[in-house]
Amino acid sequence: MENKKSILCIGAGYVGGPTMAMIAAKCPDYTVTVADINADRIARWNSDSLPIYEPGLYDVVKQARGRNLFFTTDVEQGIRNAYLIFVSVNTPTKTFGAGAGKAADLQYWEKCARLIAETADSTKIVVEKSTLPVRAAEAIHRILQSNPRGIEFHVLSNPEFLAEGTAIRDLENPDRVLIGSMTVPDSHEAMQTLVDLYAHWVPRERILTTNVWSSEMSKLVSNAMLAQRISSINSISALCERTGADVSEVSRAVSMDSRIGSKFLRPGVGFGGSCFKKDILNLVYLCEQYNLDAVAKYWEQVVLMNDYQERRFAERIVKAMFNTLSGKRIALFGFAFKADTGDTRESPAIYISRMLIEEHAKLAIHDPQALPNARLDMKGYEDCIEYCEDPYEAARGAHAIAIITDWHAFTELDYQRLYDSMEKPAFLFDGRNILDHRKLFEIGFEVYPLGKAKLSHMVHSR
Ligand code: UDX
Ligand code: ADP
Repeated sequence: MENKKSILCIGAGYVGGPTMAMIAAKCPDYTVTVADINADRIARWNSDSLPIYEPGLYDVVKQARGRNLFFTTDVEQGIRNAYLIFVSVNTPTKTFGAGAGKAADLQYWEKCARLIAETADSTKIVVEKSTLPVRAAEAIHRILQSNPRGIEFHVLSNPEFLAEGTAIRDLENPDRVLIGSMTVPDSHEAMQTLVDLYAHWVPRERILTTNVWSSEMSKLVSNAMLAQRISSINSISALCERTGADVSEVSRAVSMDSRIGSKFLRPGVGFGGSCFKKDILNLVYLCEQYNLDAVAKYWEQVVLMNDYQERRFAERIVKAMFNTLSGKRIALFGFAFKADTGDTRESPAIYISRMLIEEHAKLAIHDPQALPNARLDMKGYEDCIEYCEDPYEAARGAHAIAIITDWHAFTELDYQRLYDSMEKPAFLFDGRNILDHRKLFEIGFEVYPLGKAKLSHMVHSR
């Protein structure tokens, strides 16, 4: 028999795990269970070595685990016990059939909805936590309502806006919590249940309630707009390299306009992560479905610009190193898609590594957290890659260092020591502009910052 203060989350990934840990920590009067079909993942959630690296997460988990936070593989039992069911399973881009390469693959979501419909023996509130296409809630509601026992289900959309690396901070102090509900009778009560849950720690004025489609759409648009800012500044970085302007100075000057603001204007090797590309392509697909071709093309350009930026970075390496990488060792510093995570999904590092390998380079990859995932991403390339726990080992005998991820630790390395151990001329490509370029130049490096002039010791170099 379900208890109104019993919560289940299906999917113990980057979103489900941290979000439920925070809810359990902030709401000791609720019992929170996180269920996943991946037994290995669940075992790690129950251990001291959590399956994801996220600063501060372990402390939050430890605070609630065993008290009112539980991790299990028994999804069915979880469904029967819970009143509120969050679904936070993966929704990758479809790789086959209609909409391949753009639309979201909803097979995992649909499986969950069907399991809930078959297993539930009392009313449930089902909450979309994974990003879903607009109007998905309606389809889910239909699947749930088709249960033969006449059990009532309410479907809410409650997109998660946490960013990896800052998940705990984002969950503890969110800019907003968005809850969308369907315009069916009784959905107001369901919505209030979720509002009351978040109100345990989020100020009421930051909890927004909308209709379900606005909520689904807002998630896609938030990610699209954040990515659009990155693609905008990255496009300007290409122009700066040609014109002699400095993209950091441009970004700073532009962002001091309070209407524009300073966030998400850091140029880099391109955005990665499981959300941006997927959500934009989802938006593009939606526009195409409604014959809004101009709108679809507008947003698609954000992704195309990102592909261009990744390619441009790799091509710049090849060109700078005398148009040949054959047999040269290149140390890649960073493989995660951003700092403070071990996640490599859609990381620009994957694409850049492949391009460099096509040029017959030998890679030495170092990352403080992402090496296990890097090995999986680069399966099949073992002959061309060495994985190094130690950055100094990665750089030894290398012709170049390429900074791919903005890990703070990279700013604290001894670059003189790295330089001394490398082949000469020693190149440094700073894909995140996190290092002191003048100092590196003085050490002797050929320095290639992003979106600004190179610093070269070579005569006749332009
Ligand atoms: C993003 C959204 O920020 C979050 O709200 C949503 O819930 C999930 O998607 P995430 O992908 O975890 O979060 O990280 P984010 O900090 O947004 O960075 C995404 C990518 O953009 C990273 O590769 C990052 O390095 C890059 N980035 C970010 C830049 O290149 N420049 C910037 O100025 C900011
Ligand atoms: P996100 O970044 O959105 O959290 P992840 O891929 O990290 O996505 O996590 C999704 C999780 O959902 C995975 O651990 C996966 O095993 C789990 N999952 C997928 N389908 C099901 C299902 N039908 N039942 C339970 N868990 C599922």
